Amino acid sequence: MSNSKQVLVTGGAGYIGSHTVISLVNAGYQPIILDDFSNSTPEVIDGIQDILQKSIIIYRGDCRDWGMLSSIFDKHKFEGVIHFAASKAVGESVEQPLLYYGNNLDSLMVLLKAMEQFKVSNLVFSSSCTVYGQPDELPVTESTERKSAASPYGNTKKICEDIILDVVSSTADLKAVSLRYFNPIGAHPSAKIGELPLGTPNNLVPFVAQTAAGIREVLTVFGDDYNTPDGTCIRDYIHVMDLSDAHVQSLTYLKKQSNSSYYEVFNLGTGKGTSVMEVIKTFEEVAGVRLNYRVGPRREGDIEQIFASVKKAEEVLNWKTTKTMKQALVDTWKWQQTLSKTK
Ligand SMILES: NC(=O)c1ccc[n+]([C@@H]2O[C@H](COP(=O)([O-])OP(=O)(O)OC[C@H]3O[C@@H](n4cnc5c(N)ncnc54)[C@H](O)[C@@H]3O)[C@@H](O)[C@H]2O)c1
Repeated sequence: MSNSKQVLVTGGAGYIGSHTVISLVNAGYQPIILDDFSNSTPEVIDGIQDILQKSIIIYRGDCRDWGMLSSIFDKHKFEGVIHFAASKAVGESVEQPLLYYGNNLDSLMVLLKAMEQFKVSNLVFSSSCTVYGQPDELPVTESTERKSAASPYGNTKKICEDIILDVVSSTADLKAVSLRYFNPIGAHPSAKIGELPLGTPNNLVPFVAQTAAGIREVLTVFGDDYNTPDGTCIRDYIHVMDLSDAHVQSLTYLKKQSNSSYYEVFNLGTGKGTSVMEVIKTFEEVAGVRLNYRVGPRREGDIEQIFASVKKAEEVLNWKTTKTMKQALVDTWKWQQTLSKTK
């Protein structure tokens, strides 16, 4: 197999990683996946290969395993790395902070060591809008102050961003971008891959889909007395395929940078805030079902509203979202029906 345009995708069997693998192939890259399946399953690879109608190289293993990681770097000539692998459940991170600091920080550090040793200089890192906390002004731009993190998970994203900046600023030959995702939703339109929440979903959209499918009895709206037009919280929901495409644009952009210590952060959202109630009503419309929901008290740790300014990503990366929230919910529902059929 040709060595051209090989990209290491850690966590490539996960939700955002699997969709990015599709976008990478469509853009002429050859993604190589490394995943330990701690939060995904090997069937995801079948879904990816089914969509692409070709096989993908996958290594099953832990990103922190230096022996394995270095042998992968030895075998391939990577043009860059997209680093998704991390533990991501906010609530679990509060209960088990060491698991989160251990996985999220060590994975990055072992990876950076391998990139240095094998002279791979382009890194795209999965960060999160969680680094902004409840911002003082909206929309948030990349220069909006990062607040102290509300959870160990959020703190790992802040620390990882700082580690990357320190390494970029050192003598190491590293160029990097940190992508601060807002709220990724939706699935590939083929409904062959999508989000696989293990256990009870923490996020609104998978919970909505599971309620519509009868897996969850009732959806609780956490508070309708916020200072927003309908009283429910507001987020910036981005279709996972738009998000995936941004990774390809970021990598392509990074490769063009001649400054060997290039580092930038980019917000990835739609720039538009949508309330919990708007999501519920739009989902009911696209799925043609009535959702069984009730309004409960506010949930601790939830911020009132956040949405992105995406001007920088649009201007610098030459990227733009193309899908609506409604389209994302159509794809979510199709994916939920695939999942329900296979259960
Ligand atoms: N989904 C979101 O809402 C969201 C928002 C902001 C940021 N992010 C970040 O984006 C990235 C991807 O998120 P996702 O939603 O696709 O998560 P995911 O859990 O679906 O995917 C992560 C993948 O990484 C794998 N993994 C975890 N630790 C590993 C390790 N040590 N070695 C090898 N593989 C490992 C898991 O098995 C999983 O397949 C994560 O870094 C996450 O923190 C996600």
